Amino acid sequence: MSSTKGAAELQRFFTKALADPKRDALLDGARRICAPLAARMLTQAGIGAETTTPFKLFDNACGPGVVASELQRLIKPAVLQQQSSILCGDFSPQLVELVQQRAEHEGWVKTETKQIDAQVCDTRGSRTHPVPSLVSSPFHISDPGPGSDQEQRPCLCNIHPSHVTTNIGFHVIPDSKAALDVSSTVTHKDQPCVSTPEAIRVLKPGGTLALTTWHHRNAGWAADLQAAFASFPFDAPCPVTQQTTRWGDWPDVNWVRKALEQRSLERVQVDVFAFLVSVDGAEHFVAGFEGMMDWVMAGSWSEEARKEHGREEVFGRVRDFLEEKYEGGAWDQTWIGVVATARLPEGGL
Ligand SMILES: C[S@@+](CC[C@H](N)C(=O)[O-])C[C@H]1O[C@@H](n2cnc3c(N)ncnc32)[C@H](O)[C@@H]1O
Repeated sequence: MSSTKGAAELQRFFTKALADPKRDALLDGARRICAPLAARMLTQAGIGAETTTPFKLFDNACGPGVVASELQRLIKPAVLQQQSSILCGDFSPQLVELVQQRAEHEGWVKTETKQIDAQVCDTRGSRTHPVPSLVSSPFHISDPGPGSDQEQRPCLCNIHPSHVTTNIGFHVIPDSKAALDVSSTVTHKDQPCVSTPEAIRVLKPGGTLALTTWHHRNAGWAADLQAAFASFPFDAPCPVTQQTTRWGDWPDVNWVRKALEQRSLERVQVDVFAFLVSVDGAEHFVAGFEGMMDWVMAGSWSEEARKEHGREEVFGRVRDFLEEKYEGGAWDQTWIGVVATARLPEGGL
């Protein structure tokens, strides 16, 4: 599957997952798969139940709000309530809306959501959804007004988060290089805020960048799907790549380390985290990974093959295969993530 086609399909998948009544499956997957990795990333970034210092965290490519939800669960209310704040940004308006709904329904505190494209960390055209108690959040980004430099490219750098996180994001952000490397100088109050990397540019000096991606050896959902497709009585290709963007090699720990070191970050720490994800049964697998099956078929099957073997037939075959393989019961999948953290020097870059 070409990476461009893969990226486009994946974006369609995330958007569709919210348009459909598939929301529950999306949140179930987020809880079982994305949350453990987010928790591991936060630990490596020095944030957890023991945290006593308030922080300002910008969760970039926040998806359904996994990092914010973990922070609500982990951080002592007094620390969150003090001067901490969480900004959740994603370029998908549907996901931003979902996070806002979660924040309201689940009573999250000190959380703000905003439509932000990680490739430009730009708030242009964004909608702000402040949680009521947070209207005067330190993450409030003032509109520079017409005629200023920022009108061309509003700037997030005035918020100075102490932490910028991106859980399972860089390997699917369409232009992940742009998300790290700013191509032009951005100005703020007539001062250049530089051509330092985009995700890093917004960090306060001494702040922490934390990210996760899937490792090249991640089995995840693909191992089950590949075994099922291989059992079909017709040719059913199932190539799966952990990265859908063209630039870089995000599933490779050595590449990730070098990419961060080359940007003069300090205390670069790259690790892997393997964990088990329980699947309740064959039906649960199909409901949870139906979007990924669509993605594989759209990217790797010919139109004729897709016409001849429609999705209902394919889903039924996968269900039958897994029923038999796991004897009608539950099983565990093995997921492996890359976890990376680094610090912006106190003096900036
Ligand atoms: C695999 S999901 C991970 C979501 C979330 N961080 C989590 O832990 O579940 C990748 C996310 O990246 C977002 N994304 C992709 N390209 C983006 C971009 N250019 N700017 C902001 N978000 C982007 C998608 O909308 C999606 O929510």
